[in-house]
Amino acid sequence: MKLPPFKLERYFAKYEFNTEFLLCSSDCESMSVADLLALEEGAAERFHNHWLGYTESLGSPTLRKEIAAIYASIMPEDVLVFSGANEAIYLFMMAALKENDHIIVHAPHYQSLSEVARGIGCMVSPWRAREENGWALDLDELRHLMRSTTKAIIVNLPHNPTGYLMSHPDFDELNRFAQEHNLLLFSDEVYRESEYDQNDRLPAAADYGTHAVSLGVTSKTYGLAGLRIGWLATKNRGLYEKMAILKDYTTICNSAPSEFLAEVAMRHRVKLAERNLEIIKHNLAVVDDLFSRHPSLFSWHRPKAGSMGFPKLLNGNVESFCDDLVRKVGVLLLPGSVYDDAHNHFRLGLGRKNLPQAVARLEEYLATAEIKN
Ligand SMILES: Cc1ncc(COP(=O)(O)O)c(C=O)c1O
Repeated sequence: MKLPPFKLERYFAKYEFNTEFLLCSSDCESMSVADLLALEEGAAERFHNHWLGYTESLGSPTLRKEIAAIYASIMPEDVLVFSGANEAIYLFMMAALKENDHIIVHAPHYQSLSEVARGIGCMVSPWRAREENGWALDLDELRHLMRSTTKAIIVNLPHNPTGYLMSHPDFDELNRFAQEHNLLLFSDEVYRESEYDQNDRLPAAADYGTHAVSLGVTSKTYGLAGLRIGWLATKNRGLYEKMAILKDYTTICNSAPSEFLAEVAMRHRVKLAERNLEIIKHNLAVVDDLFSRHPSLFSWHRPKAGSMGFPKLLNGNVESFCDDLVRKVGVLLLPGSVYDDAHNHFRLGLGRKNLPQAVARLEEYLATAEIKN
């Protein structure tokens, strides 16, 4: 299989560890191992005594039990743990798809959600989020994208990079559609539990039935990207077994310290999510102010969930803007071109504590740069 460079990851590889302000991160503020262990009495001592042999390939039973608690009807045996969400995406596609299958993918999207399928030889149709509709997906468009060879629909809700969240009736309808047409629904839910209004939280797709697979991870809502622990939840036994068997060719099993720490994190996930949501909401007020001061420079659809938004630069070229900004003042934004967006959007991250300082630096730049206000 041939895979092209992952544009977003290559962009971050260039800047992530040498730039002062990452104003486009998708993950929330992280914490130290000590801070995480302090959430639970006795956890630090148990961590010190934790065994460093190979771990169970499916994920430790106790971790799978904690992960299953996120869902309404998912059992621990329906959960398969991976080394990050990206490994899960890769192995789902390897297990579920074959050459000439057709898939429909929520667009714009995190690149691996279509690229692995393309590498397998699948046909890929983008199901476009429309900015003029608040980045909504239109179910009528989905119906038109269907082909006789369609095998799966891939969605990402809450959405990277727009922060869009589908309505409950539409998500019900999407699940019904997949079931009626015998399609798999792969639902990337790595930003779930970061809805600004809890009433907007969608049920997990895996709880709807065997057609669906839900993807989760510790990286985003919970702010623990360095653990590299992700998971798939599905009631589809056949698919589950295929993915479990393929995992022998990637990581075999997950890191023992990471599984221990992820289990602690999942037991305290509500607290972790609340802490990060507080940071996001504080930051949202800062960026709302920023955009209200510069209406002729940017347009902005406020996200409904998650740790990012996708504003538009109204003048000039967004790639040159991001490039000049990071070189001159050390503030990193992510040009939409890494998502193949051709309309001058950029990704703005909302989950980091230093966002107010980064925005102040951005405004100093705007005041001096030759950008027409
Ligand atoms: C929508 C989406 N899915 C999956 C991933 C991969 O997550 P991880 O890096 O934790 O494997 C990301 C990371 O940015 C993402 O935004």
